[in-house]
Amino acid sequence: MTKIVRVTDDISVVDEAAEALAKGKLVAMPTETVYGLGANALDEEAISHIFLAKGRPQDNPLIVHISHKDMLECVVKSVPEAAEKLMDAFWPGPLTIILEKSDKIPTCVTAGLNTVAVRMPRHPVALRLIEKSGVPVAAPSANISGRPSTTRASHVIEDLSGKVDYILDGGACEVGLESTVIDMTGEVPQILRPGGISLEALRQVLGQVTYEPALKDSRTVPKSPGMKYRHYAPKGELVLVDAECSERVQALLADSKCAGGKVGVLCCGERGYDADFVIDCGDDAEAYAQNLFDALRQMDELGATFIVAELPKDSGGIVPALKNRMLKAAGGRVMTEAEEYRTELV
Ligand code: TXA
Ligand code: MG
Repeated sequence: MTKIVRVTDDISVVDEAAEALAKGKLVAMPTETVYGLGANALDEEAISHIFLAKGRPQDNPLIVHISHKDMLECVVKSVPEAAEKLMDAFWPGPLTIILEKSDKIPTCVTAGLNTVAVRMPRHPVALRLIEKSGVPVAAPSANISGRPSTTRASHVIEDLSGKVDYILDGGACEVGLESTVIDMTGEVPQILRPGGISLEALRQVLGQVTYEPALKDSRTVPKSPGMKYRHYAPKGELVLVDAECSERVQALLADSKCAGGKVGVLCCGERGYDADFVIDCGDDAEAYAQNLFDALRQMDELGATFIVAELPKDSGGIVPALKNRMLKAAGGRVMTEAEEYRTELV
């Protein structure tokens, strides 16, 4: 049975779940990015339950979450100076750092890699859970593998109720997309997954930082195992269109109406589109990021068979992360004004 705990002012309601987590139970927790499905990172059996509950491929490693830098000692072999700078600048926050793994972390956490992903989240509930459990917490996003990540407790209940021991309800997630993953084990720091901390912000601290080549070229095998899987896909067919092309959106909607089925639109700002379901994800990219996964899940619930989504207008900041998730959900294609598909990655 899954116990659902609503966390409001009294954060000590988290402590029972923390004790259970330390003993091998699964606890879904809110973070500032998305909800995570946590287990004791030092307990192999608990880790195997994460993979089972999510239906996650065994070759996809987990992120280890800590509440205090003291915990790094049992997670990583050493902390290079550049990584220390990142921790000082962005932790607690949406940045996951890849470093050489300590022998104390079981290999099932890292899917056999000799590196480990580590992050200190910013959400008070996640921090309390980790702190009170007294162990590093391995946690992938708390969704069934392949589905959009969960950014509300209701999403977690939908995907994982009955499969986990606790779901901590901390409301809607602030960022709405997963953390930036940066690999600090090579010569030049590489972003393996764009997320809540932007390339520009990382460059300000480190100087040189690049996107991993596979983020820009689909012929290259991604370094981050998770990036090779199709993700975030809604049940209906999803087509992306540039935000400036509202006529193209209108034409797509008109065509699909003739073809039958239920048609949905995700737009950035009020546009007056004629569709069965319209979800306005907000005018600015931050709001769009917060709402994207919820909107994709709503479209599933409403039974949309065809979904047109406007890409965000701006660039920089959260936009590469937002586009990355939208492109993954849509199979990497954007429809142009000339009614052709162009292929994009980041
Ligand atoms: O915001 C987040 O990062 C959320 C919250 C819960 O913290 N977690 C999350 O975890 O998104 P998950 O498991 O859905 O994604 C982790 C990503 C995957 O793409 C995985 O392949 C990559 O991090 N990863 C983990 N360990 C790695 C490693 N040692 N080397 C390269 N990539 C790694
Ligand atoms: Mg995930």
